[in-house]
Order: sequence, then structure tokens, then C-alpha cells
Amino acid sequence: MRVLVIGKGGREHSIVWRLHQSQSVWKIFCAPGNPGINQIAEPVPIAPGDFPALIDFVRANKVDLTIVGPDDPLGAGIVDEFEHAGLKIFGPRRAAAQLETSKSFAKTIMREAGVATADFEVFDDAKKARAYADSKGGRIVVKADGLALGKGVTVCRAIETAHRAIAEAMESKKFGAAGNRVVIEELLTGEELSFFALSDGERAIALGAAQDHKPIFDHDKGPNTGGMGAYTPVPQFGPAIEERIMREVVNPTLAAMKARGIPYRGVLFAGLMIDGDRINVIEFNARFGDPESEPLMMRFEGDLAQTLLAAAEGNLAGTTVRLSPRSSVVVVMSSGGYPGEYRKGLAIHGIEKIEGSAPSDVKVRWAMNRIRVKVFHAGTALKDGTLVTDGGRVLAVTAMAPDLKTAVAAAYEAAEMIEFEGRHFRRDIARRALSRMRATSGSV
Ligand code: AMP
Ligand code: GLY
Repeated sequence: MRVLVIGKGGREHSIVWRLHQSQSVWKIFCAPGNPGINQIAEPVPIAPGDFPALIDFVRANKVDLTIVGPDDPLGAGIVDEFEHAGLKIFGPRRAAAQLETSKSFAKTIMREAGVATADFEVFDDAKKARAYADSKGGRIVVKADGLALGKGVTVCRAIETAHRAIAEAMESKKFGAAGNRVVIEELLTGEELSFFALSDGERAIALGAAQDHKPIFDHDKGPNTGGMGAYTPVPQFGPAIEERIMREVVNPTLAAMKARGIPYRGVLFAGLMIDGDRINVIEFNARFGDPESEPLMMRFEGDLAQTLLAAAEGNLAGTTVRLSPRSSVVVVMSSGGYPGEYRKGLAIHGIEKIEGSAPSDVKVRWAMNRIRVKVFHAGTALKDGTLVTDGGRVLAVTAMAPDLKTAVAAAYEAAEMIEFEGRHFRRDIARRALSRMRATSGSV
């Protein structure tokens, strides 16, 4: 089939890369794409928000399936427009994507579905918000209602911080109109997990779980980012927990959506906080995670295009998803200064040492140890034929190996080979899981 992917980040590169290995796919387009994606897909210079132009393109080029990467076009109703035009597209319609785009909608659905989530209230009055914060001793999370590119969330552990966050969101409008209404919830403790399920509106199948690392610096210090690294599988959360997540979170949520007359089709990404026996939902997303997709796509076995088409057609019965039992990890290389201000246009060197065809000792060693390494492009551009930085998250260096420790070592070995001015990456991706594994196995 002929497939169009919408987006330009590391997530979309990993999806395109996996589609490229799908037997059923013989042509891939990507709008707009990036220099890494464009090596295996034909770039389409149409903005993800220009639905009429995308629909014209899909018709003219006989595209069989469109796959939406980011949340913005979903929130703006791209799926509704495509379906209206009689075209096949993978993703939830606008009303269903509210699970991500409106935090108050998501909370309401969770309440209806009996899904465990943090205690919360919705406020449009800052004074009342402050009173609620005080009643929780300042241990709250302030969330602007509406899309703020993951930046509308402030975690507070003290009264003063809570008051400041409320003032910033609701009074000085740090996140624009998204701060007219805020969701304030109690602070959850535990360990975070990103869980992905595919739904065709009627039934869902588990896709897998990954653990993200959101703060910019080691030991989870500094401001939150889109994600600085991830790994899958997550050894401390095995199949028994995945089954519980399907039973206690995914299936009830999808049933509540259906009962409301807005069946959910696409990938449901549950951001969870797990503390002992307690599984709480922090948030839902209506799309694949970034950077979680990069290691998940590496482990995905089978025909991705057929699987996503089945979901889009409401036809997942009988479809199974197989992931490689091997471990995969992604280390994100970011621009100096990100998630604050950063420079663009800085030359990137060294990727050819990993992906070029010239033989090398490193590549031989990786091959002998069944290690696979892939550098996904997140924010890159070509300037006069030179690869340069073009975003906060620049590259997603991903490795897969028979065990997590080997995968982590390979991802770091590869990241060290790539250079650009001001490059930054966390040095502790998956370290917690590794030290726990050492503690339980007793070896050093
Ligand atoms: P969200 O955009 O809702 O996922 O929030 C971004 C990040 O803020 C999450 O990944 C968590 O690290 C943190 N967070 C959000 N809500 C809570 C909560 N209720 N308790 C603790 N941490 C939270
Ligand atoms: N990595 C978290 C997200 O994609 O939202």
C-alpha cells in the first residue's frame, strides 16, 4: 500500500522506518518529513495543519492510509476531515482526541469509567484555586486546560510554589488562553510508566510499555521536556501489570467513550503513576509517545501498516502485536539551552560513523553481539548540504540488544560518536532499572 505519515520528529522517523520494513508497504510519503525521514520516504512540503492540501495530495497520489504523528492535527480534526472525504486515516476524531486536548474532559471520562486518577478540581477563579491548593498543603499539580505543548504543567510541593504557579497560569497567562481554566490535582507519588494500546473503537490490544525520562538533567533535575530518553520493556512492570492496565484503565476508558457516542480509534497512550498496587492515570494522549516510539518501533515485529490499517478500519479482531523480547533504549541528544532558548543551524558530525556503509570495528562488534543501532532524526535540517540542528530535541539515538545493559551501553557509545556545539544528553537513562536489576540478581 501507499502510506502518508504526518509529522517531522523522532517519533515519525521511527514510524516511517518501521513502515519501510512492512511487507505491505511499497511507497511512503511524509509531510513534511525531515532529513532522516527523507532518506526512506518522499517528503511532501505541506504543513500538518493544511487539511485541504493534504486531502488533495492523498487523492492525487492514491494514498491508502494516512498515519498522524503529532497531537495538533488530531485536536484540530484532521481525522474528521479525512473520513468526511472518504479517506482512511489512523487516529482518533477530534471529539475523541479530547482525551488529550482537554484535561477536564479526560478527568470526567475517568470518573465515569471508574479509572483511578488523582483527586482534582477544575477552576476558572484564581482565588478558589488558591484555597484548594492550601487545603492540600501545596502538594498539587497545576495544569492549564488545553494544549500547551506539554509545558502547561507545574508540579508543586509547597504552598508558595503552588500560589506562584496559579498566578502564572491564571493571572499572568503564561500559557495563553489555555490558562483561563486550570485543572488542579493532588500530587501523586510512585514511578511513571507510558503504556500504549491500539483501539479500533470496539476493542483494544496492548502495544507495550516504556519508561520516559522527562526532566532535562540527570537524576530528574531541572525543567520537564518532551522526553530525554526511554526504554522498553520495563523490567519492574511485567505482563501482570500490563494486564491490569488493560483491565482497569484502557478497557473501561474505551467503554466510557463508546457509551458517550464517541468511540476512540487510534493509539491510546496512558501516562501512569504506579505505586505498589496502585495504578493511577496522570494523563491520556491520543498519539504515540516521543521518544517512547523510537524503542517501541525498534521492538515491533510484524507489519505495522497492516496493524494500523486494521485499527483505522475498525477491524482489529484477530490482530495480534508481537514485540521483540530484546531490550531497546533511546538517548535523546538536545540543543544546549533546551527546553529554554537554544541556537539552531549548528553542524552535526559523526552520524556517518554509525550509519555509513564503511566498515568499522564498532559496527563489527555491535553485529557480533546482536546489537542494532539507529539514529532517528528529531530536529535536524539540511543547510547547503550540511546536516544541522533545527530543534530542541535533535537526535534520538536508539539501540536494541539482547539485554538492557548492553542496549544502554551501545546507545551511549553511539551518542558519544555524534557531535554538535552545545550537545546535551542525560547520562542516566534506564539507570534506575539497571541498578534495581543488579540489586535483585546480586551481581555487580
Ligand atoms: P502531564 O502533561 O499531565 O503528563 O504532566 C507532565 C508531568 O508532570 C508528568 O509526566 C508527571 O511527571 C508530572 N505530573 C503530572 N500530574 C501529576 C500528578 N498528579 N502527580 C505527580 N506528578 C504529576
Ligand atoms: N514522551 C511523552 C510524550 O510523548 O508525551
